[in-house]
Amino acid sequence: MADIKKSQHGEWSSRFAFILAATGSAVGLGNIWKFPYITGENGGGAFVVVYLLCVLAIGIPIMIAETMLGRRGRQSPINTMSDLADEAGAHKNWHYIGWLGVIAGFLILAYYSVIAGWALSYVLKALTGSFSGGNPETMGALFKGLMDSPVQQVFWHSVFMAATMFIVARGVSGGLEKAVRFLMPTLFVLLILLVGYAMTTGYYMQGLEFLFKPDFSEIDGHAILTAMGHAFFTLSLGMGAIMVYGSYLPKHISIAKTSIIISCADTAVALLAGMAIFPIVFANGLEAGSGPGLIFQTLPIAFGNMTGGWLFGILFFILLSFAALSSSISLIEPAVAYLVENKNIARQKACIWAGLITWGLGVTVAFSFNIWSGFTIFGKGIFDLLDYLTANLMLPIGGFCIAIFAGWVMKPEDSKHELEMTNPQIYEAWKFLVSYVAPAAVFIVFLNVIGILG
Ligand code: PFF
Repeated sequence: MADIKKSQHGEWSSRFAFILAATGSAVGLGNIWKFPYITGENGGGAFVVVYLLCVLAIGIPIMIAETMLGRRGRQSPINTMSDLADEAGAHKNWHYIGWLGVIAGFLILAYYSVIAGWALSYVLKALTGSFSGGNPETMGALFKGLMDSPVQQVFWHSVFMAATMFIVARGVSGGLEKAVRFLMPTLFVLLILLVGYAMTTGYYMQGLEFLFKPDFSEIDGHAILTAMGHAFFTLSLGMGAIMVYGSYLPKHISIAKTSIIISCADTAVALLAGMAIFPIVFANGLEAGSGPGLIFQTLPIAFGNMTGGWLFGILFFILLSFAALSSSISLIEPAVAYLVENKNIARQKACIWAGLITWGLGVTVAFSFNIWSGFTIFGKGIFDLLDYLTANLMLPIGGFCIAIFAGWVMKPEDSKHELEMTNPQIYEAWKFLVSYVAPAAVFIVFLNVIGILG
């Protein structure tokens, strides 16, 4: 069936275009904003080891599975799963994986857009010289000023949402493909320059030790859940984003190879961000576990005190905003593709609806840092709740189901055919990881957290 099928939404122009788009989805706030602060909150090295193991044993096999399902189904994740379930003679209910993903996408984008708004607002702060001569106090106050202002946060969140929906409305393979081609490598170079600056702080080794020297006494079931959840989050897995990008992938492109390239690039960016940030944290006597404000309070100190820092600061926050943009479009694409396919409405209209819903939810997130900061559900504010619910629960559950489907439900001849792996041993290795290792790992981490084992 799938061989003759083409996506109604178009296709990537080449293998490189797909790699760029999928890397654009994977590399984002998760690598530069989230990875350092959750590493800081969870004690450093041991957390990083667990995260790296999760990327290897769970992330890469599931990325291969998700891309493969997308390319075979060639539609939005909801319809793809429903067709593939048919093909495998399985129950239609598998299409709920697609629904779970669409909902997770809305929930993530709601807070993702608010944080991306912070990055945008820092472009302006950098431009106007606010970082100049910055120290922990002044940069802390600068960040607090933004946190305390619902108006500023809603404004920047709105700008970011508008940009996201504008690009999605035009289709993902147009302008974005070109922009990402240039922006991703530049971001990479800038991060390396920042690591260079971190080397001059006198605290470089301390930063590296924090990041790479594991102390397993620092880690508990929740830290392991956070590390696993982050592996899903940072690779954009478990919610159909990579599946929908896979559905635009031309035939005869090696899914395994591309998945490994994307995962390596993503991991490299996160580690570079950590190597840049922690030396600055220690050099300035800052708190590694200070939470979501970490990069906004540390990097401006570096920019404010280094030669050429004014320009680097501007460039950095522009690139961070673009990295966020190339991720945010993939968060909403599954929902938009579904609306276009099933509700028979134009892409533009689908974008307006999806965008408005996300924007509204995002406003509540922006308020959770100030006027609604006292409002909690299960002891968590709106931002924390959405983050926990999506990254730690919905993505791993989605990924678990995808692994089970690819490993157990789909006919092996179909997955073999779609993956076109020339080496049968590599296929068997993937099959083993996706059928046993990945689902078992997710299951054990959940059990541990529920407290049955831990
Ligand atoms: N991977 C993105 C990041 O690390 O910033 C976030 C993300 C994008 C998560 C797309 C999930 C997703 F489907």
